[in-house]
Amino acid sequence: MKTTFLYKSDPARGRLWAEVFRRRAPDIDFRIWPDIGDPAQVRFLAAWEPPDDLATRFPNLQVLFSSGAGVDQFDFASLPPALPVVRMVEPGIVRGMVEYVTHAVLGLHRDMPQYRRQQQEGLWKPLPVRTARERCVGVLGLGSLGQAVLEQLVALGFDCAGWSRSRHEVAGVQCHAGADELPAFLARTGILVCLLPLTDSTRGFLDARLFSQLPEGAGLVHVGRGPQLVDADLLAALESGRIGDAVLDVTDPEPLPPEHAFWRHPRIHLTPHIASMTQPLSAAEVVLDNLECFEAGKPMLGLVDRARGY
Ligand code: GLV
Repeated sequence: MKTTFLYKSDPARGRLWAEVFRRRAPDIDFRIWPDIGDPAQVRFLAAWEPPDDLATRFPNLQVLFSSGAGVDQFDFASLPPALPVVRMVEPGIVRGMVEYVTHAVLGLHRDMPQYRRQQQEGLWKPLPVRTARERCVGVLGLGSLGQAVLEQLVALGFDCAGWSRSRHEVAGVQCHAGADELPAFLARTGILVCLLPLTDSTRGFLDARLFSQLPEGAGLVHVGRGPQLVDADLLAALESGRIGDAVLDVTDPEPLPPEHAFWRHPRIHLTPHIASMTQPLSAAEVVLDNLECFEAGKPMLGLVDRARGY
């Protein structure tokens, strides 16, 4: 029986995936939703939002690939329990995140938001310049994105720290692990970057208690997921001066409703969830590499631990 790889995400990007599949894996019948062909032939699905009746509709499905870095949009309870789920870890999405976070961190580090405010007031006022070595940047989340971001920040000379649930080692970075080591990590962090996955334990993670442990005037760069941030607590932390400026690429909900206070806050800098995106050509290559691993019984890059949720 022929194997179908079904793609259910933006069709224009899907056509680029199709080119890579045609070249590298001509035996696979690559199809773009809703042109599913024979559902019994669908062994692989790449989707942002899989269909609700996935298990009954595709009885021979063997792997579900997320078309993005996150998998929090999946309802794990409705997926067949043994179905392997794979996050998108591909060079394009990693580079995009490195660019966005580096830009945001450098902007905060060099007081760009303050200069923009001063310009609006016609105020010519130089602020003291600190070197990167004097600025501690702390990254929450040490997965492939967090590690790549840190590698760049280390190269720029920042004093870098990282925190994650489990112990990691990253060259040039002081790594902290678990709840016990979170206070020490926060206490030294002048610019906090959130790259955590959204799980039950990270929902509401960026709250008043966490902000209160940062040094006065700390910067925030939030590129995780909107529900990790307690909006009212951020507004209070900005009001008190605990947080100086916040760069937010994710909100809850998205898009942010027009009346939301974040839109007009002078110390909040919003982008519409564009920090990074899967790049179709490199993503298709990585997925094909993963299919080879799967067929050979080897571990796939980005395989999700469903008990952990990422
Ligand atoms: C974007 O947020 C993604 O998960 O790829």
